[in-house]
Amino acid sequence: MKLVHALVLASLTVSGSAFALGDPAAGERKAATCVSCHGSASFSGMFPLVQLAGRDADKLATKTNKYRSGKLFSPLMNMSVMALSDQDVEDIAAYYQKLGKPFLAMPGIRGDEDITAAK
Ligand code: HEC
Repeated sequence: MKLVHALVLASLTVSGSAFALGDPAAGERKAATCVSCHGSASFSGMFPLVQLAGRDADKLATKTNKYRSGKLFSPLMNMSVMALSDQDVEDIAAYYQKLGKPFLAMPGIRGDEDITAAK
């Protein structure tokens, strides 16, 4: 019985590891600027097609870092993420993943597959 319990705990720990890098509570504070454009749990943002809530944290972080490094060009985004640290990016990504779903579901909204497709 004890062994089963330990195994269940172990598998929970492993499956929860996507959250381990970023701290969603810190991310909520750090996302204050992102929210105006990308939304939150209670707001769609000015660009509702790129609401980030519910998106995969690893993919969000990867794409955010491409804007940080200038690999992806988008003046609004390059300026918005320029000053972030690696930890800030992980925290913000964890926050958005934890929101679970966009505030305003709508046709044409970007999903994780768009992030994966981006070079
Ligand atoms: C002034 C508005 C604005 C702010 C502030 C902003 N963004 Fe963006 N962001 C955009 C726009 C517009 C796009 C779409 C850019 C494109 O496709 O060229 C985008 C795209 C993204 C994407 C890619 C989404 C996808 O599905 O392709 C990520 C990730 C992202 N932003 C993260 C952030 C984070 C993290 C912050 C806060 C630190 C932030 N953004 C702040 C406007 C903004």
